[in-house]
Amino acid sequence: MIEFNDITKFFISGTVRTDVLRGVTFKVNKGEFAAIMAPSGTGKTTLLNVLGCLMKASSGSYLFEDQDIETLNDDQLSEIRNKKIGFVFQTFNLLERTSALDNVLLPLVYADVYPADADKKASRFLESVGLKERINYKPSELSGGQQQRVAIARALINDPAVILADEPTGNLDANSAKEIMEIFKTLHKEGRTILVVTHDINIARSAERIIYLKDGRVEKEEVLR
Ligand SMILES: Nc1ncnc2c1ncn2[C@@H]1O[C@H](COP(=O)(O)OP(=O)(O)OP(=O)(O)O)[C@@H](O)[C@H]1O
Ligand SMILES: [Mg+2]
Repeated sequence: MIEFNDITKFFISGTVRTDVLRGVTFKVNKGEFAAIMAPSGTGKTTLLNVLGCLMKASSGSYLFEDQDIETLNDDQLSEIRNKKIGFVFQTFNLLERTSALDNVLLPLVYADVYPADADKKASRFLESVGLKERINYKPSELSGGQQQRVAIARALINDPAVILADEPTGNLDANSAKEIMEIFKTLHKEGRTILVVTHDINIARSAERIIYLKDGRVEKEEVLR
């Protein structure tokens, strides 16, 4: 599903060059739940931005469903982002004045596909993350954990090929974090492909496999189950 071969990424700020990814190689298979583990500030978000086609690598090859991402134009990249990838962020990224239901529906608006049963589908996903009673609440009326559940339901609405999560529990207390990881485990059992990047080993341990990054490269992989 995902194949990273010797991916590098550097940034230039003024005269300073920062090499963040220095040759990252790994694969994620369809149906897998993998975690990428790296300390703070060492390139997790950068890696996820490349994975999510939000940013191009400086060099190396990236295959997504056997398609060479390097060869695609901006329209093709946004098509992949909108239809194939569900994003979950550390800060939830919900629209403030908008109900949980409409937040979940938002990706459909961007993707230009609006099935007749969209509302029903969105309600069903909100129900599946335990928010049946909250579908008309706005983000400010929800707890952090509940907001992240809305974000997960939003990530599911397009039936993405993969869910990419960047420190999805970084802003949550231990209990809510555990509940969110249980939701990811359930989604994985249902057959979804999930990739979480985190600096927290307890979060990474929810996955089946941990890919450890060090100094911009894969240091080792650990298979947990
Ligand atoms: N657009 C950019 N321009 C210049 N440098 C950048 C840019 N984006 C990231 N960096 C640098 O790349 C490095 C890695 O940043 P990144 O956000 O990927 O780390 P992270 O592992 O996600 O950190 P955190 O755990 O704090 O979220 C940092 O040193 C950062 O300053
Ligand atoms: Mg980050």
